Amino acid sequence: MRTRPLARPQRTARWRRLAPAAACALALSSAAPRAQPAAPAIGGHFALTTTDGREVTDATYLGKWLLVYFGYTSCPDVCPTVLNEMGSALDQLGGEAAKVQPIFVTVDPVRDTAKTMAEYLSSFDPRIVGLRGTAEQIEAAAKSYHVYYRARSLGGGEYTVDHSSYLYLIKPDGGFAELLAGDVPGHKLADELRRLVR
Ligand code: NI
Repeated sequence: MRTRPLARPQRTARWRRLAPAAACALALSSAAPRAQPAAPAIGGHFALTTTDGREVTDATYLGKWLLVYFGYTSCPDVCPTVLNEMGSALDQLGGEAAKVQPIFVTVDPVRDTAKTMAEYLSSFDPRIVGLRGTAEQIEAAAKSYHVYYRARSLGGGEYTVDHSSYLYLIKPDGGFAELLAGDVPGHKLADELRRLVR
């Protein structure tokens, strides 16, 4: 009997758009009659606070394309890479970047104070808005976006936060557009954003 080789992840294809499945789910859910407006499968409501103290919700950003990422400032490698590529994509978009609101939501609100986040994000791109909130608010936002995160103790009171790494693109009407793997290179992200905002 032949041994089946283990399936290998297709790394080169990881940044591909993952919209079709989500679009299907949306189509299915909108087919059923309902009294309330259909909630998007991914994204939707959040209530958080900017690093300069403004309380915002998803409704605050209606009219803009949202590029949302969840992470934390002391993340050793993934978050800095993603933010770097995000900044690079915004630069490549030129004037069209004005149609996009990049958002970084912390999953570590205890260590990520407003000041820490503001300083951290400005080192990548000042256009990226940092959002934080209470543990409950972060949890609710993460739930809307189907984000996984969990603090993991490193001993001695130190901890790291494991978290999923996806970029969420939300349409100006608040509906879900698509999901990109966090390791999408900046130029691919720029291409995708350009295609969407035009
Ligand atoms: Ni991270």
